[in-house]
Amino acid sequence: MAKKVLGILGSPRLEGNTADLLEAALEGARSAGAKTERLALARLSIDACIECRRCDMNAECAVKTDDMQEIYSRIRKVDAMVLASPIFFMSVSAQTKAMIDRCQSYWVERYIHRRRAYEGRERPKGLFVACAGSSREMIFDPAKHVVKAFFAAIDYQYAGEVLLGFTDDPDLAPRKETAIEQARLAGESLVGP
Ligand SMILES: Cc1cc2nc3c(=O)[nH]c(=O)nc-3n(C[C@H](O)[C@H](O)[C@H](O)COP(=O)(O)O)c2cc1C
Repeated sequence: MAKKVLGILGSPRLEGNTADLLEAALEGARSAGAKTERLALARLSIDACIECRRCDMNAECAVKTDDMQEIYSRIRKVDAMVLASPIFFMSVSAQTKAMIDRCQSYWVERYIHRRRAYEGRERPKGLFVACAGSSREMIFDPAKHVVKAFFAAIDYQYAGEVLLGFTDDPDLAPRKETAIEQARLAGESLVGP
Protein backbone atom coordinates (compact mmCIF):
# COMPACT_ATOMS: atom_id res chain seq x y z
CA MET A 1 0.00 0.00 0.00
CA ALA A 2 1.27 3.50 -0.85
CA LYS A 3 2.62 5.45 2.10
CA LYS A 4 0.82 8.65 3.07
CA VAL A 5 2.65 11.92 3.63
CA LEU A 6 0.93 14.98 5.06
CA GLY A 7 2.32 18.44 4.33
CA ILE A 8 1.34 21.25 6.68
CA LEU A 9 2.02 24.79 5.51
CA GLY A 10 2.42 27.25 8.37
CA SER A 11 3.17 30.27 6.22
CA PRO A 12 0.45 32.88 5.64
CA ARG A 13 1.98 33.33 2.16
CA LEU A 14 0.52 30.45 0.23
CA GLU A 15 2.99 30.83 -2.62
CA GLY A 16 6.10 31.97 -0.77
CA ASN A 17 9.47 30.31 -0.24
CA THR A 18 8.21 28.05 2.54
CA ALA A 19 5.39 26.83 0.31
CA ASP A 20 7.85 26.12 -2.53
CA LEU A 21 10.12 24.06 -0.27
CA LEU A 22 7.15 22.14 1.13
CA GLU A 23 5.91 21.39 -2.39
CA ALA A 24 9.39 20.10 -3.34
CA ALA A 25 9.43 17.77 -0.32
CA LEU A 26 5.97 16.43 -1.21
CA GLU A 27 7.04 16.02 -4.82
CA GLY A 28 10.03 13.96 -3.62
CA ALA A 29 7.71 11.79 -1.53
CA ARG A 30 5.40 11.27 -4.53
CA SER A 31 8.35 10.33 -6.72
CA ALA A 32 9.09 7.56 -4.20
CA GLY A 33 5.52 6.27 -4.51
CA ALA A 34 3.74 8.06 -1.64
CA LYS A 35 0.33 9.68 -1.67
CA THR A 36 0.57 13.24 -0.44
CA GLU A 37 -1.84 15.75 0.94
CA ARG A 38 -1.25 19.38 1.86
CA LEU A 39 -3.08 21.54 4.38
CA ALA A 40 -2.47 25.29 4.65
CA LEU A 41 -3.03 26.47 8.21
CA ALA A 42 -3.80 29.99 6.95
CA ARG A 43 -6.88 28.56 5.25
CA LEU A 44 -8.04 26.84 8.44
CA SER A 45 -9.44 28.31 11.59
CA ILE A 46 -7.49 26.97 14.55
CA ASP A 47 -8.05 28.43 18.00
CA ALA A 48 -5.24 28.79 20.52
CA CYS A 49 -5.04 26.23 23.34
CA ILE A 50 -6.97 27.53 26.36
CA GLU A 51 -5.21 25.23 28.85
CA CYS A 52 -8.52 23.94 30.17
CA ARG A 53 -6.61 20.79 31.21
CA ARG A 54 -9.48 18.55 30.14
CA CYS A 55 -7.06 16.55 27.99
CA ASP A 56 -5.26 15.52 31.21
CA MET A 57 -8.15 13.11 31.83
CA ASN A 58 -8.56 11.34 28.52
CA ALA A 59 -5.71 12.56 26.30
CA GLU A 60 -8.22 14.15 23.95
CA CYS A 61 -8.74 17.80 23.11
CA ALA A 62 -12.12 18.98 24.39
CA VAL A 63 -12.38 21.77 21.81
CA LYS A 64 -14.21 20.20 18.89
CA THR A 65 -15.58 23.25 17.14
CA ASP A 66 -12.70 24.40 14.95
CA ASP A 67 -10.63 23.09 12.05
CA MET A 68 -8.13 21.36 14.33
CA GLN A 69 -10.23 18.24 13.63
CA GLU A 70 -8.70 18.26 10.12
CA ILE A 71 -5.27 17.80 11.71
CA TYR A 72 -6.27 15.36 14.47
CA SER A 73 -7.97 13.09 11.96
CA ARG A 74 -4.74 12.75 9.98
CA ILE A 75 -1.91 12.64 12.54
CA ARG A 76 -2.30 8.94 13.37
CA LYS A 77 -3.14 7.90 9.81
CA VAL A 78 -0.07 9.10 7.91
CA ASP A 79 3.40 7.62 7.62
CA ALA A 80 5.15 10.98 7.59
CA MET A 81 4.56 14.69 8.02
CA VAL A 82 6.37 17.67 6.55
CA LEU A 83 5.85 20.71 8.76
CA ALA A 84 6.81 23.92 6.96
CA SER A 85 7.00 27.30 8.66
CA PRO A 86 8.64 30.66 8.14
CA ILE A 87 10.65 32.04 11.05
CA PHE A 88 8.68 34.78 12.76
CA PHE A 89 10.39 36.50 15.70
CA MET A 90 12.85 33.62 16.10
CA SER A 91 10.19 30.91 16.23
CA VAL A 92 7.59 29.24 14.06
CA SER A 93 4.66 31.31 12.75
CA ALA A 94 1.63 31.93 14.97
CA GLN A 95 -0.46 29.65 12.75
CA THR A 96 2.04 26.83 13.24
CA LYS A 97 2.38 27.41 16.98
CA ALA A 98 -1.40 27.40 17.51
CA MET A 99 -1.59 24.02 15.77
CA ILE A 100 1.34 22.67 17.82
CA ASP A 101 -0.13 23.86 21.14
CA ARG A 102 -3.40 22.16 20.31
CA CYS A 103 -1.46 18.88 20.22
CA GLN A 104 -1.01 19.01 24.00
CA SER A 105 -3.42 16.07 24.17
CA TYR A 106 -0.78 13.91 22.43
CA TRP A 107 1.83 15.12 24.92
CA VAL A 108 -0.52 14.02 27.72
CA GLU A 109 -1.02 10.66 26.02
CA ARG A 110 2.72 10.05 25.75
CA TYR A 111 4.13 11.61 28.91
CA ILE A 112 1.28 11.49 31.47
CA HIS A 113 -0.62 8.36 30.45
CA ARG A 114 2.63 6.81 29.20
CA ARG A 115 0.97 5.30 26.16
CA ARG A 116 2.98 4.85 22.99
CA ALA A 117 0.94 5.21 19.82
CA TYR A 118 2.97 2.93 17.55
CA GLU A 119 3.88 -0.01 19.79
CA GLY A 120 5.46 -2.73 17.66
CA ARG A 121 5.47 -0.76 14.39
CA GLU A 122 7.48 2.01 12.86
CA ARG A 123 6.74 5.50 14.11
CA PRO A 124 5.92 8.10 11.43
CA LYS A 125 8.69 10.44 10.35
CA GLY A 126 8.59 14.20 10.80
CA LEU A 127 10.51 16.57 8.55
CA PHE A 128 10.87 20.28 9.34
CA VAL A 129 11.11 22.84 6.54
CA ALA A 130 11.74 26.50 7.34
CA CYS A 131 12.66 29.83 5.74
CA ALA A 132 14.07 32.93 7.42
CA GLY A 133 14.95 36.41 6.27
CA SER A 134 18.18 36.52 8.26
CA SER A 135 21.50 35.07 7.19
CA ARG A 136 22.54 34.23 10.78
CA GLU A 137 23.19 30.51 11.14
CA MET A 138 21.57 30.21 14.57
CA ILE A 139 18.32 31.78 13.36
CA PHE A 140 16.59 28.39 13.09
CA ASP A 141 17.71 26.99 16.48
CA PRO A 142 14.73 28.09 18.65
CA ALA A 143 12.20 26.85 16.05
CA LYS A 144 14.05 23.54 15.76
CA HIS A 145 13.59 23.00 19.51
CA VAL A 146 9.86 23.77 19.19
CA VAL A 147 9.38 21.41 16.25
CA LYS A 148 11.44 18.59 17.78
CA ALA A 149 9.28 18.82 20.92
CA PHE A 150 6.17 18.73 18.73
CA PHE A 151 7.23 15.62 16.81
CA ALA A 152 8.24 13.90 20.07
CA ALA A 153 4.83 14.72 21.59
CA ILE A 154 2.94 13.20 18.68
CA ASP A 155 5.35 10.23 18.88
CA TYR A 156 6.99 10.78 15.49
CA GLN A 157 10.69 10.26 14.71
CA TYR A 158 12.47 13.50 13.88
CA ALA A 159 13.72 13.07 10.32
CA GLY A 160 15.76 16.28 10.08
CA GLU A 161 15.24 19.63 8.51
CA VAL A 162 15.61 21.65 5.31
CA LEU A 163 16.39 25.29 6.03
CA LEU A 164 16.67 28.29 3.76
CA GLY A 165 18.04 31.48 5.31
CA PHE A 166 18.52 35.01 4.00
CA THR A 167 15.41 34.93 1.84
CA ASP A 168 15.74 38.73 1.52
CA ASP A 169 18.95 38.26 -0.48
CA PRO A 170 18.55 39.64 -4.03
CA ASP A 171 20.69 36.66 -5.15
CA LEU A 172 18.46 34.09 -3.47
CA ALA A 173 17.80 32.01 -6.61
CA PRO A 174 20.82 29.62 -6.62
CA ARG A 175 20.60 28.94 -2.86
CA LYS A 176 16.88 28.40 -3.16
CA GLU A 177 17.43 25.92 -5.99
CA THR A 178 19.84 23.98 -3.74
CA ALA A 179 17.30 24.00 -0.89
CA ILE A 180 14.55 22.83 -3.28
CA GLU A 181 16.74 19.89 -4.28
CA GLN A 182 17.49 19.13 -0.60
CA ALA A 183 13.76 19.22 0.13
CA ARG A 184 13.05 16.87 -2.78
CA LEU A 185 15.62 14.36 -1.50
CA ALA A 186 14.42 14.68 2.09
CA GLY A 187 10.84 14.06 0.93
CA GLU A 188 11.97 11.01 -1.01
CA SER A 189 13.78 9.56 1.99
CA LEU A 190 10.66 9.96 4.17
CA VAL A 191 9.16 7.18 2.11
CA GLY A 192 12.17 4.88 1.91
CA PRO A 193 12.91 2.05 4.34
C1 LIG B 1 6.12 38.86 11.52
C2 LIG B 1 7.43 38.48 10.92
C3 LIG B 1 8.48 38.16 11.75
C4 LIG B 1 9.69 37.76 11.21
N1 LIG B 1 10.70 37.42 12.05
C5 LIG B 1 11.87 37.00 11.55
C6 LIG B 1 12.93 36.61 12.43
O1 LIG B 1 12.84 36.66 13.65
N2 LIG B 1 14.09 36.21 11.87
C7 LIG B 1 14.25 36.14 10.51
O2 LIG B 1 15.32 35.74 10.07
N3 LIG B 1 13.26 36.49 9.66
C8 LIG B 1 12.08 36.91 10.15
N4 LIG B 1 11.06 37.26 9.28
C9 LIG B 1 11.25 37.08 7.82
C10 LIG B 1 10.68 35.73 7.32
O3 LIG B 1 11.19 34.66 8.08
C11 LIG B 1 11.05 35.51 5.86
O4 LIG B 1 10.51 36.55 5.07
C12 LIG B 1 10.60 34.16 5.32
O5 LIG B 1 11.26 33.89 4.14
C13 LIG B 1 9.16 34.10 5.03
O6 LIG B 1 8.83 32.90 4.34
P1 LIG B 1 7.81 32.90 3.07
O7 LIG B 1 8.62 33.26 1.85
O8 LIG B 1 7.26 31.54 3.04
O9 LIG B 1 6.78 33.94 3.36
C14 LIG B 1 9.85 37.69 9.79
C15 LIG B 1 8.78 38.05 8.95
C16 LIG B 1 7.60 38.46 9.51
C17 LIG B 1 6.45 38.81 8.59
